[in-house]
Parts: sequence; structure tokens; C-alpha cells
Amino acid sequence: MLRFDYLLITALAISTVSVVMAQVPPEKQFRVLNEPGYAPYITEYDASYRFLNSPNQNFFTIPFQLMFYNTTPSAYVLALRVGTRRDMSFTRWIWDANRNNPVGDNSTLSFGRNGNLVLAELNGQVKWQTNTANKGVTGFQILPNGNMVLHDKHGKFVWQSFDHPTDTLLVGQSLKVNGVNKLVSRTSDMNGSDGPYSMVLDNKGLTMYVNKTGTPLVYGGWTDHDFRGTVTFAVTREFDNLTEPSAYELLLEPAPQPATNPGNNRRLLQVRPIGSGGGTLNLNKINYNGTISYLRLGSDGSLKAFSYFPAATYLEWEETFAFFSNYFVRQCGLPTFCGDYGYCDRGMCVGCPTPKGLLAWSDKCAPPKTTQFCSGGKGKAVNYYKIVGVEHFTGPYVNDGQGPTSVNDCKAKCDRDCKCLGYFYKEKDKKCLLAPLLGTLIKDANTSSVAYIKY
Ligand SMILES: *[C@@H]1O[C@H](CO)[C@@H](O)[C@H](O)[C@H]1NC(C)=O
Ligand SMILES: *[C@@H]1O[C@H](CO)[C@@H](O)[C@H](O)[C@H]1NC(C)=O
Ligand SMILES: *[C@@H]1O[C@H](CO)[C@@H](O)[C@H](O)[C@H]1NC(C)=O
Ligand SMILES: *[C@@H]1O[C@H](CO)[C@@H](O)[C@H](O)[C@H]1NC(C)=O
Ligand SMILES: *[C@@H]1O[C@H](CO)[C@@H](O)[C@H](O)[C@H]1NC(C)=O
Ligand SMILES: *[C@@H]1O[C@H](CO)[C@@H](O)[C@H](O)[C@H]1NC(C)=O
Repeated sequence: MLRFDYLLITALAISTVSVVMAQVPPEKQFRVLNEPGYAPYITEYDASYRFLNSPNQNFFTIPFQLMFYNTTPSAYVLALRVGTRRDMSFTRWIWDANRNNPVGDNSTLSFGRNGNLVLAELNGQVKWQTNTANKGVTGFQILPNGNMVLHDKHGKFVWQSFDHPTDTLLVGQSLKVNGVNKLVSRTSDMNGSDGPYSMVLDNKGLTMYVNKTGTPLVYGGWTDHDFRGTVTFAVTREFDNLTEPSAYELLLEPAPQPATNPGNNRRLLQVRPIGSGGGTLNLNKINYNGTISYLRLGSDGSLKAFSYFPAATYLEWEETFAFFSNYFVRQCGLPTFCGDYGYCDRGMCVGCPTPKGLLAWSDKCAPPKTTQFCSGGKGKAVNYYKIVGVEHFTGPYVNDGQGPTSVNDCKAKCDRDCKCLGYFYKEKDKKCLLAPLLGTLIKDANTSSVAYIKY
């Protein structure tokens, strides 16, 4: 009986203790004001920034720092920045908490006893939060890999910024079919809210879409690649032996193989060409320790990786991968490569196609203005001008369109469709592609594809 009582008391004591323990101790709580300070250095997007200061919490784990930045007056985003003050390259913003919901002056970031991290306006209106109140959070930390975490007393992450990617994946960060499954671009350097480009992971692959017309169009990615539900941006030493010099590989890794298929297929291949092997996509290889790198879906639709080498005396950052490049998928495949419109040949915008023929390209080149662009069954004539030997940017992803069909049927479809800005017809396979959006026109060396643009 005595033993039983003893157990009961112990159990009660533990449960009482755990309720008390599962809170943020006063010396780890903070409340920081978003207020001006000394901030003279240039950062990405030419943004202004403000430091967070609290006697209880350090917000800088070299080279990652939590701060506020703004690109328009009085619209602040809580964000993680990478780089240090002594770098000659500008520092970069690699994670945003509230880019669609900026806060004003004198807003506060607070982390109270209940473990919820809250960004609120001066009047108390909550603009962003981690929703972790009373979930056992006991502390806040920025890890050396750039992951900002709220952890419990066992060190387990209750919330982590790595689960909430915006337009960027740091090394070790993933997209998940059962979680945040996409990157979404910014609108522009000046405007950080969700833009028209996304890269989405699903069970078919990792696909890049542009959504400017209400219907997402595929323009890149790995559209037929099984990532087994998770894709992780990774940078790995080519050789395991740390005493030997080694290059580093930039990879997109799928979820690990099920245990029935033993062995890490990566290690079976000592040297692999850029491309895919065992489900892992090898983006590039660099000759220095690029453990601090990120993969970014840009506001122009580009997909690029950047790597940091702080030991360099200048140019600490370099572009280490670009999806649209001369070593990966052709540069002319980027819809915005020639701005709004242009004729692109081997990575150069060589002309601006107009009804009067090919004129010199400039960044003012634009497709014809869209007015009265369909016959609407009233028998109204629709005009087209012809460009021989060009492909649409979606061509490679939609099998050059539908067909076989005749060029007249293809035209008739576009005539009727007010959203059709033109059609692309491939004589050889009699394929018909209607274009609801125009951009960079890719020169097709075999000239079997002809574009007809409405005007
Ligand atoms: C923010 O606080 C400072 C100092 O208390 C004050 O001078 C300023 O007017 C405040 N700004 C706003 C927008 O409330
Ligand atoms: C930013 O872009 C979004 C849509 O992309 C737009 O709705 C918003 O008005 C823009 N904001 C500013 C300040 O230009
Ligand atoms: C595409 O954009 C339209 C209009 O902005 C929006 O309503 C729609 O949800 C978007 N589609 C996707 C799949 O994001
Ligand atoms: C690592 O490389 C060094 C130098 O080449 C060699 O002496 C050592 O045996 C290697 N270690 C392993 C575990 O292979
Ligand atoms: C590579 O860099 C990372 C991050 O700076 C560091 O933690 C790691 O020890 C480095 N690896 C080697 C082999 O130097
Ligand atoms: C041109 O056609 C040839 C033969 O059909 C093909 O091998 C080649 O890949 C084509 N080139 C392009 C750029 O499509």
C-alpha cells in the first residue's frame, strides 16, 4: 500500500511538473519592437532592414539572421537573411514569415510563456503566428543550417521554418506532397507577395507553372520523375573521406528508398554526369564546400541555386545552377527570357516579331495588344501573322499540342477562342498548340513549327 501511494504521488508530481515545464521560461521569452536602427549596408532587393534586439534572445546564428525588411515604406516582412556584414556580396533574404501580410512601424514580435511566436501590429492585430500556443514549446533557436525552430524540452521541433518554404529551399529543406508542396515566386523585387510562378511537387513530378491567365501552364521542371512524396535540396560531398579533397554536388533528392531496396544508390556511382541517377537529380558540381546554398524560384520564373563561400575575399556568393542555361535546359525556354516577347536563338533575343516582320529586339518588345481577338461566331475575320521556325515555351511539356489535325482546324479553334493569342502548328506531326500566353519564342532549328500570332 505504501508503495502504491508512493507511485501515485510520483505520478502526480511528474504530471504537475510537465505542465509547468511545458512553458517558455521567463528568461527565454521576448517581445521585440519593429523600430528603426542603424542599417547602412545593401541587401537583396535593395531592401531596408531593421535588427531585432532582445536581452533574452540572440537572433543571429552565423550566417543566418532574423530581422525585418521592407521594399516599400512601412510594409515590413519578418525574414531570415544570410550573409555577414563583412561580405562584399550583398546579403540575401531566404525565408519570409509574412510576405503576403506585411506589418507596419512599431509592430512587435513576441514569444511569451505559452510558446506561440506572434507578429502583431501596434494595435494588437495579429499578422502572422506559428500557432504553437500550449504545445509544449520551451525555446526558440536559429540553427546553423538556417532553420528557425521552436522546440520542446526534449529538443524536438514543434515548429520549424523549414516546413514553411516560400520561394526558396535551403540545403536540407524539402517540399512534401503531404505538407507544403510548392515554391511560389515573389511578384517582383519590389513586391514580395505571391507572384505568378510556382514549382509544385505531386505524385507525377516536380513541375514549374506560370499562372498569368487563370490557367497554370507548364514551362519547366521534372514533370515525370518519382520523388516518392518528398524532394529535398541537398549539397553533398562527392567523397565520404573527409581527409581527401572533394567536390560537392548540388542535388534534388527523393525520399529514401523503402528498406527492401538496400544501399544508398548515390554512393554506388563515384562519378556521375549531371542528370539523374537512382532517382536523385544531380544539378551541378562545385569545387568548394557549398554546404550553405539555396535553390530559388525567381520572380522572373527562373530556377537558380546560389552557393556561399565565406572564405572568398570577394564574390562570396555565386550562381551554381540555373534550370534555363546552356548546360541544362536551353535558356530560350524561360518564358521571360526576352521580356514580354521576343524571338530567341541559342540564348540570345535576336528579334521582335511583328506583322511587318522581324524587327530588332528591345525590352519594349511586346505581343500585339489583345482587343477583339475572336470571331465569336459572328463571322468576324481574325488576322494572324506568321513566324516560321519557332516553338512555344510550353511545347516540350504538352507534346507540341494536340493532333494530328489540319492547320485549318487549328486556326479555326484559335479563331473562336478569345483567350487564344495565337497557334503553333507542327507540320511534321500535324500538332496544334493554342497559346493563351506569349513570351519568349524558341527558335526551332528544324523549322517544322510555325507560329501564327493574332493581331
Ligand atoms: C513608433 O514609436 C515611436 C517611438 O515611440 C514614435 O515616435 C512613432 O510615432 C511610432 N510610429 C507609429 C507609426 O506609431
Ligand atoms: C503586389 O503584387 C500583388 C499581386 O501580385 C498585387 O495585388 C499588389 O497590389 C502589389 N502590391 C503593390 C504594393 O504593388
Ligand atoms: C491561377 O490564377 C487564378 C487567378 O489569379 C486563380 O484564381 C487560380 O486559383 C490560380 N490557379 C492555381 C492553380 O494556382
Ligand atoms: C582517407 O584518405 C586518406 C588519405 O588519402 C587515407 O590515408 C585514409 O586511409 C582514407 N580513409 C578511409 C577511411 O578510407
Ligand atoms: C562545410 O561547411 C559547413 C558549413 O559551413 C561546415 O559545417 C562543414 O564542416 C564543412 N565541411 C568540411 C568538410 O569542411
Ligand atoms: C531536328 O530533327 C532531327 C531529325 O528529325 C532531330 O534528330 C533533331 O533532334 C531535331 N533538332 C531539334 C533542335 O529539334
